[in-house]
Amino acid sequence: MKNTMILIAILSAITVFSQKKSKDIDRKWWKEAVVYQIYPRSFKDTNGDGVGDLKGIISKLDYIKSLGINAIWLNPIFESPNADNGYDISDYQSIMKQFGTMDDFNTLLKDAHQKDLKIILDLVVNHSSDEHKWFQESRKSRDNPYRDYYHWWPAEKGKPAFRPGAFEADGSGWRYDKTTNSYYLHYFNFKQPDLNWENPKVRQEIYSMMRFWLDKGIDGFRMDVIPFISKDTNFPVITQADLDKNYHGRWDVYMGEGPHLHDYLKEMNKEVLSKYPNAMSLAEGAGMLKSTALNFVDPARHELNMGYHFEGTNLGYVPRYFKKSGPYKLTDFKKIYTDWDAVYKEKGWGTTYLGNHDQPRMVSRWGNDSEQFRAPSSKMLTTFLLSMTGTPYYYYGDELGMTNIKFDKIEDYRDIEVFAEYDKVKNAGGDLKEFIENQKTGGARDNGRTPMQWNEKENAGFTTGTPWLKVNANKSEINVLDEEKNPNSTLNYFKKMTKTRRENLALIYGKYTLVDEPNEQIYAYTKELDGKKLLVVLNFSDKEAKLNSDLDLKNAKILIENYPSDNKTGTFQPYEAVIYQLK
Ligand code: NOJ
Repeated sequence: MKNTMILIAILSAITVFSQKKSKDIDRKWWKEAVVYQIYPRSFKDTNGDGVGDLKGIISKLDYIKSLGINAIWLNPIFESPNADNGYDISDYQSIMKQFGTMDDFNTLLKDAHQKDLKIILDLVVNHSSDEHKWFQESRKSRDNPYRDYYHWWPAEKGKPAFRPGAFEADGSGWRYDKTTNSYYLHYFNFKQPDLNWENPKVRQEIYSMMRFWLDKGIDGFRMDVIPFISKDTNFPVITQADLDKNYHGRWDVYMGEGPHLHDYLKEMNKEVLSKYPNAMSLAEGAGMLKSTALNFVDPARHELNMGYHFEGTNLGYVPRYFKKSGPYKLTDFKKIYTDWDAVYKEKGWGTTYLGNHDQPRMVSRWGNDSEQFRAPSSKMLTTFLLSMTGTPYYYYGDELGMTNIKFDKIEDYRDIEVFAEYDKVKNAGGDLKEFIENQKTGGARDNGRTPMQWNEKENAGFTTGTPWLKVNANKSEINVLDEEKNPNSTLNYFKKMTKTRRENLALIYGKYTLVDEPNEQIYAYTKELDGKKLLVVLNFSDKEAKLNSDLDLKNAKILIENYPSDNKTGTFQPYEAVIYQLK
């Protein structure tokens, strides 16, 4: 009896001791922020050229503020020939003419800061545009001072060893250039030559450009494919066997583990980021694995703050005819997010996202975009995103429940990637009809890039001209104006959810524990902080579902729910989402 009492006392001491406390947390604004991502081309056009602009974003800052978000990440806004919509930069220190001027940017920054909104810019420095003056010089002659700003392979050495080029129909990352009888490297399209980070001059140019923007007062960078920057410049032959043995069979993992990657990130931190301690840095984690993620974001290493992985968004894609989206098992989905949560349990900081400019729309991909379930499933996914530990990145238009556009013709698309994939299928004599069908639910990035739906009028109030990409016909049901008026709209739910996250530190920093793991319909987890315990229940299915758990729902308080049901029964309607505060 006495021994049992001692054991109980020890166990409860351990429990109290192991409880997560906010006073022990290294609190940071970028951990507590909800980041709203804007694709500037598609947000709001003010000059009638059919392309969104900075003045358009400025004109919508009150709307953005009303969402309850804290930071805006802008996809690239710099001068660019737009082969890949700004991910091919020809001048890093000027604004793309279609988007406006530096004065517009200065106004945007000032107005956003006045509203307590941070501005994050996209740093695209694995590659530049082939129209950047560095590359224009570099390709002129083998002894040009800019020659080694890029990776060249003299043709007399034969063909260089294969490297993948993502937006090329032949899949090759090398392009032959007649002027100097050499090949240059491009991990994406031939209009995006890879910068040579092994050259210290290149690195210094990039650091000074970063300081230029940070000195203006921006609040951080999202770093495009940053794991790819360092290369073995001998470009050895990499066989499938090498890939299988050392890189999980994956090129992106190989490309994401270049020899000096972390030396360069440390140097960038020392020369730039450490001088602006309030600014945040986010690695786009191409090729990043659970086993390597902390190499980027462990604070003791002085590299970056956060990274985002691709495991979540890759789930359920079938490679046949470019990312056909297949059904996914909820237990797999849960495992991915649970395992990634564990990566950052002790140190570092994660992120969560379900959509962005490289993905189909969140509700079409992870929820259900039928008329019946679009609203509840959008709200359910929002509840997931904003209740996970780690910073949520939320894509413009998802707050309305915007859906995939599902084009029937290749001519409607604008994206370089979909054209390259289409050509691959065509050249291989594949089924182009099937390809187009697959894009409706699958990989096509334009699904997530259609203009913001402000109202039901022509072009959804996005432009008075001809939009660069068609507006979704469902603008009459899904738009800001109508949703602002409807208290039960997807939009108003998003606002409630940002408030709920703000008011409950446990959602941001709490200890995450999966509940009812084998359930194939419900994703449920608790979040605990300072002795407060929240339970998030998300029905990911279009059928009623039962939660198997002995947690006491009867006496719990409901913090937010997407059906007006005051549901304490343990059974959940299709796509129902509830957050409980447990007694
Ligand atoms: C990742 C970006 O998110 C994508 O949009 C772009 O095409 C590639 N990197 C190349 O910059």
